[in-house]
Amino acid sequence: MIDDLSSFTAAALAAAERAHTTDELHQLELIHLGKEGPLLAARKALGSLPAEQRKDAGQALNSAREQVETAFAARRGELESAERAAQFEFERLDLTEVVDYSPVGHAHIVTQAWEELEDVFLGMGFRVAEGPEVETDWHNFDALNIPKGHPARDGFDTIYVDYGPRDEDGRSNTVLRTHTSPVQIRTMLTQEPPIYVIAPGRVFRRDTADATHMPVFHQIEGLVVDRHISLADLAGTIEAFTTAYFGEGFSSRLRPNHFPFTEPSAEFDIQRPDGSWLELGGCGMVHPNVLRAGGIDPEEWSGFAFGFGIDRLALMKFGVDDLRDLFTNDIRFLSQF
Ligand code: PHE
Repeated sequence: MIDDLSSFTAAALAAAERAHTTDELHQLELIHLGKEGPLLAARKALGSLPAEQRKDAGQALNSAREQVETAFAARRGELESAERAAQFEFERLDLTEVVDYSPVGHAHIVTQAWEELEDVFLGMGFRVAEGPEVETDWHNFDALNIPKGHPARDGFDTIYVDYGPRDEDGRSNTVLRTHTSPVQIRTMLTQEPPIYVIAPGRVFRRDTADATHMPVFHQIEGLVVDRHISLADLAGTIEAFTTAYFGEGFSSRLRPNHFPFTEPSAEFDIQRPDGSWLELGGCGMVHPNVLRAGGIDPEEWSGFAFGFGIDRLALMKFGVDDLRDLFTNDIRFLSQF
């Protein structure tokens, strides 16, 4: 019986070691120490032993039982702490990983394009000039060689503002600027040549919003006034800008056009590496009347100017089809960029 006991014990100890979970351990404990278990069966068998063997067998039985119980208890301790650790790990809340409740956001894609354009022109030696968004019609039109009654005024679909003195006909002289070109005038009136400035800003027209038009949009103006400035300088500057901003493989061309404030005037296009063309903006040699309005002697100085839309560049760059998406301020749209 003692021999049987030691194999029971060895089997029970091995079983305790084998258990991987407290549940499994409990099942094994029922098998080895429970009512149907071998140790209890052996205890029942004690009575049938001869009296002289009973004492030793009883002691052996007790110590076997103790040994097995201790082993199960130790194993239970191990498994319980492992299971608790696993549970803690599972329920752990890492507060540094939790959703950011105060997202920082980023610059709007029009602002990104605006700043990139500024960077490129600053790198080419230009400085940034500014002017008001609410302008006198003199700065916006007259000084730019668009006198009252000039047909080009109608083309701008101007928004007049009820502010300031009225003209003889009782009409307002104040407009939301229709382009950034009045900044040319303000710069010439406040700075001596040589002038190398760009003027990015918001402009306004009475346009109905659609995929390619907005009543409020953004332009960037360029103005150079110096001695001996020629059309070649204009073309070279546009070309240098094109490769600096768009990259190698892009080039530019000028196409004759007309603006009242430049003479000669041109439209400039950008050619993409795939050969397709993008109409970008207008440009030309600053008209002598405009230099004069800016207080600059056209006999001594000459210059060129250019202007184009910023929003369409942002559309192109980020592959957006509809201009309106830029300004509806849907965070799901904006946060993609
Ligand atoms: N102001 C013109 C426009 O809004 C663009 C332009 C700027 C053209 C400077 C020539 C020179 O369309």
